[in-house]
Amino acid sequence: MIIKSLELADFRNYETINISFDKGTNILYGDNAQGKTNILEAIYVSATTKSHKGSKDKEIVNFNKEEAHIRTYLEKEDVEYRVDMHLRKNKSKGIAIDGQKIKKAADLLGLLNVVFFSPEDLAIIKNGPSERRRFADMELCQLDNFYLYNLNHYNKIINQRNKLLKDISFNPGLKETLNIWDSQLISFGSKIIERRNLFTEQLCEIIGNIHNKLSGGKEELIVKYEPDVSIEEFENKMRENQEKDIRYKMTQSGPHRDDFSFIVNGIDIRKFGSQGQQRTAALSLKLSEIELVKKMTKDTPVLLLDDVLSELDSSRQNYLLNSIGEIQTIITCTGLDEFVNNRFEINRIFKVSNGVISMNE
Ligand SMILES: Nc1ncnc2c1ncn2[C@@H]1O[C@H](COP(=O)(O)OP(=O)(O)OP(=O)(O)O)[C@@H](O)[C@H]1O
Ligand SMILES: [Mg+2]
Repeated sequence: MIIKSLELADFRNYETINISFDKGTNILYGDNAQGKTNILEAIYVSATTKSHKGSKDKEIVNFNKEEAHIRTYLEKEDVEYRVDMHLRKNKSKGIAIDGQKIKKAADLLGLLNVVFFSPEDLAIIKNGPSERRRFADMELCQLDNFYLYNLNHYNKIINQRNKLLKDISFNPGLKETLNIWDSQLISFGSKIIERRNLFTEQLCEIIGNIHNKLSGGKEELIVKYEPDVSIEEFENKMRENQEKDIRYKMTQSGPHRDDFSFIVNGIDIRKFGSQGQQRTAALSLKLSEIELVKKMTKDTPVLLLDDVLSELDSSRQNYLLNSIGEIQTIITCTGLDEFVNNRFEINRIFKVSNGVISMNE
């Protein structure tokens, strides 16, 4: 799968631009705050409908405008598609595929698969559980429409249940309605647990080899899913927790509290790993994500590398660039120096300067 071109209008610091990408490796370079990451964000939005940073549409639309447009031409199994997005400051976004409006964001997912890699991802092992859940969710939502459906419902129920827990302190009679929410919570939550479990197994089949190579044959990496509560215990746990939930006005248990552990040679590196070990494992995780998407979609995703190369030492840089292979890649960086010593092929170079993009010949 490749992105052929991207057109933006009033998106972040861009007025109107049109970029044609090569099917191989593309570089966007320029000083800080010129708009490099904004391009990757636009691509991410047209793949997932959401910003990789979690920005709202009203933040993405140019400061001085009311609406923005993203048009993406992509090619998948020799068929061309056009994805149009219309972002508005005060309304939800409109999406069309080949001129046909779609009703639900879910209908777009799966058309364009992207893997986004930013320097913050290198801290995914070191940081808290919410970032590891976000990683799994971002990937699973792209790969599995049912997961997206279940997760959206689960999150809504958690919000409504938490609101109810607050209301119960003023109106204890409402307590009776809690059971209705709980059975729904368990039903959607169990599906999430099941899928995350499978995801971890699929990831584990891939990551071991990659990490072994990255660590020069020294390290054995295993990823383990740590559900906050198992499917079997879910119902009991919810019942047991009811009084405590009411006291804390918060749902204590469920997949919104899940985590994933990373074990290297028997040691949990979330807590006991060195910084280098944690970063190498994070890189292994990202590389596995690419492989997993390839395996599940039988197609290649588009890889977006936001300023990560400068964060890696040269052997890891080489490993990353060599493992890209046949995947279309869009890389942002501040200078081209870091590529001089690397012998890999660059197919197209763009300079980004204050919302203007020019192609290096
Ligand atoms: N809604 C918006 N409207 C107009 N400009 C915006 C908007 N949101 C962000 N910007 C501008 O976009 C610029 C940041 O762009 P971006 O994050 O893509 O920079 P970058 O080239 O990736 O920089 P760095 O190298 O520091 O990562 C900033 O100058 C910011 O003011
Ligand atoms: Mg940037």
